[in-house]
Amino acid sequence: MESSSSSSSSTFQIDARLPKEISWGTIEFLQWEGFWYAKPHLAAVMAARSHFKARDEDVILASSMKTGSTWLKAIIPCIINSKTSAAGDGNGDNIDEEEDYDPFVEHHPNDLMPALETQIFRQDPNADLSGMPSPRLLRTHMPYSILPESIKDSACKIVYITRDPKDVFVSLWHFLNTRISCPLHEAFESFCNGVHPFGPFHDHVLGYWKESLKRPEKILFLKYEELKSDPTGQVRKLASFLGRPLVQVDEVDKLVWKCSFERLKNLEINRTGVDPHLGFTYKSYFRVGLVGDWKNHLSAEMRKHLDKITQTKLEGSGLEL
Ligand code: A3P
Repeated sequence: MESSSSSSSSTFQIDARLPKEISWGTIEFLQWEGFWYAKPHLAAVMAARSHFKARDEDVILASSMKTGSTWLKAIIPCIINSKTSAAGDGNGDNIDEEEDYDPFVEHHPNDLMPALETQIFRQDPNADLSGMPSPRLLRTHMPYSILPESIKDSACKIVYITRDPKDVFVSLWHFLNTRISCPLHEAFESFCNGVHPFGPFHDHVLGYWKESLKRPEKILFLKYEELKSDPTGQVRKLASFLGRPLVQVDEVDKLVWKCSFERLKNLEINRTGVDPHLGFTYKSYFRVGLVGDWKNHLSAEMRKHLDKITQTKLEGSGLEL
């Protein structure tokens, strides 16, 4: 890092010699330690890496962009705030006695798990999170190799989610195109070259995948497709991983419904709100929520090309996407 940036008490200076690309229309990307960052995010990534101090009780949601993390930004707080999880009062008797945790009428899931780089350390490179009560629920798009050391070394839990890269690309293209204008084929080429926010996608996934194999108690590796096909099973698995096993069948069903695409997409806040940190409309976080929407956008040739990259990159890793 020393050769790429210099830190003062308040800002990180970006080394002007870092590789640079303009793509996805007019977005300026800088490459640092093997990954591409939209220029405004890089100083925040460096600040988060240097200044964030993890606690053992923290829960960190990590992902590449557009892999379904919004779903988990809803599910994880529900699990942690569940009154009937075995780590709560333990008896599971009070599900109807107290008001149920349901912040979604007033809050987009982004509010419930603030982002380290695109929010907290972008606003204040010296952000002090020591006053935030535990368990702190935070999210990041930082690659594993770039994570603050205290996240890796502490006992905090990391939940990682990924998805078929063809759906990731299509989702990312739609999302960014709400703010920019970039033809699909141009964006596709950039994605395949790894030039997109926090890309290359496959390297991002592999960093967390390999670490999850070494330390399954530390990193839970989830796939969007499995969450779609078996939400209750995956929510139970996640809750157990977080040390908050859910004991009541009713509650798991209710949690899955509360966090469902159909419900969240139609809430007033998500139809009309705008993310104050990034400027994206809240509705752009809830597009179609399907597995395989790439079929409606990619040609056979594009499918073949991206599948080939995926196959080559993941070969021998034991991971299939
Ligand atoms: P699509 O663009 O394919 O619809 P992220 O949350 O990481 O930004 O990823 C966004 C993708 O997750 C979008 O995919 C979005 O529709 C989908 N998504 C958001 N909330 C969801 C939910 N509750 N259930 C299922 N999919 C969801």
